[in-house]
Amino acid sequence: MTITFVGHGYVGIVTACVFADLGNTVYVIGRTPEKIKKLESGDPIIFEPGLQEVLKRNLLAKRIIFTTDYNVAIPSSEIIFLAVGTPPKENGEADLTSIFSVAKEISKHLGKHYSVISCKSTVPVGTNRKIKDIIEKNKPKNALFDVASCPEFLREGTAVNDTFFPDRVVVGSDSKRAIQMLLKLHKPLPGERIIVRLESAEIIKYASNSILSTKISFANLVSFLCEKTGADVEEVLDGVGLDKRIGRSFLFPGIGYGGSCFPKDVLALIKTGESLGIDMKLLIAVNDINQRARDNFIEKIISKTPSKNIGIWGLSFKPNTDDIRFAPSIYIIEKLLAHGYKIKAYDPQAMEHTKKELNHGIIFVRSAFDAVKDTDALIILTEWNEFKQINLHAIKDLMKTPVIIDGRNIYDPTTIKEIGFTYYAVGRQ
Ligand code: UDX
Repeated sequence: MTITFVGHGYVGIVTACVFADLGNTVYVIGRTPEKIKKLESGDPIIFEPGLQEVLKRNLLAKRIIFTTDYNVAIPSSEIIFLAVGTPPKENGEADLTSIFSVAKEISKHLGKHYSVISCKSTVPVGTNRKIKDIIEKNKPKNALFDVASCPEFLREGTAVNDTFFPDRVVVGSDSKRAIQMLLKLHKPLPGERIIVRLESAEIIKYASNSILSTKISFANLVSFLCEKTGADVEEVLDGVGLDKRIGRSFLFPGIGYGGSCFPKDVLALIKTGESLGIDMKLLIAVNDINQRARDNFIEKIISKTPSKNIGIWGLSFKPNTDDIRFAPSIYIIEKLLAHGYKIKAYDPQAMEHTKKELNHGIIFVRSAFDAVKDTDALIILTEWNEFKQINLHAIKDLMKTPVIIDGRNIYDPTTIKEIGFTYYAVGRQ
């Protein structure tokens, strides 16, 4: 098939590459010529394991074409995916400016044949009907189209694998023809097919991200209880999570969820619910607990590090990505800098982005070892693999005072104390 993605962020570029790899001709439309040039040269712009390889392979085969020109891509495309950002506005609502302007632009270039316009971006319930109205108003008279919602569930860090092996493919539309086209495109991929109404598909995405956020906040709430009572949160959640009805995944406490999805999607769903007169207390509490997890961790650092001389490991919002959008690290470091902390920081991928965000008062170093040299405490903010089995004896020797404050519970408290560290984790002694 011939398809187009408008937008080459995490969702756009990964999904485009996967469909190109399956043999389709895929256009990707962007706004910035410099970025299009980079993409054409095989640089995916973002760091995502395995992505560059798939991109290069499909560039070579001429199955993926990058352009800024809607007229090159849209008229020949059978399916057009919107994959542009829906960032949060000041009040938490999703900002749909880009979605609507892209919808208008697409509509002007629609060809004579039938096409499906499908939203991959996370958009509040009702948005796809608005997209339909915009296209109806602006399209050439003889252009035939339908809209469909086909939300994306990929996670950063495992995005390529998640896209090749989805748990489910959700398609929401009023039109049987649109549903058939999307099913045809997804045919080679595994996973259950869920065919639903347009509105259901829109809510499935928000409800999925919100329940995962709720699990994380629940784990953090349990960690607060454990910290006050001498229980160990990891033991408790192992005990809870072995119940098959609950499961252990997404029950890892720490410094709260970050990233470009959970924080904004929980807030946006609260806004949607409130605008419909629904009491959204449950998700308001999820958001509050997430905030409290960070603040508790900052209080812990401040109370345990009077010298204010620390090293930090991990800046990205999760491992295997260079993404720092809504990363707990940024919030925590800003607060510590305001308290006069001297900070050395290391992250395997996210230092370049962090330098742009935090351009003073922090020294970025080249290795986990350099980050701890002559410091009085090591603070762990992201659970990168390379920290898990690092030579902790060597780390201890480099530090002035062997203290670790671990926001991700990556070490066994007994072992680490035996090495000679004073160890503070989340919800465990
Ligand atoms: C999420 C969803 O998982 C994905 O399906 C959706 O398409 C986009 O949003 P992502 O944001 O890439 O994906 O990462 P995810 O692995 O879900 O982690 C989000 C945040 O939650 C991270 O900051 C992570 O550290 C945190 N987290 C996750 C926890 O604090 N505890 C957990 O148990 C799991």
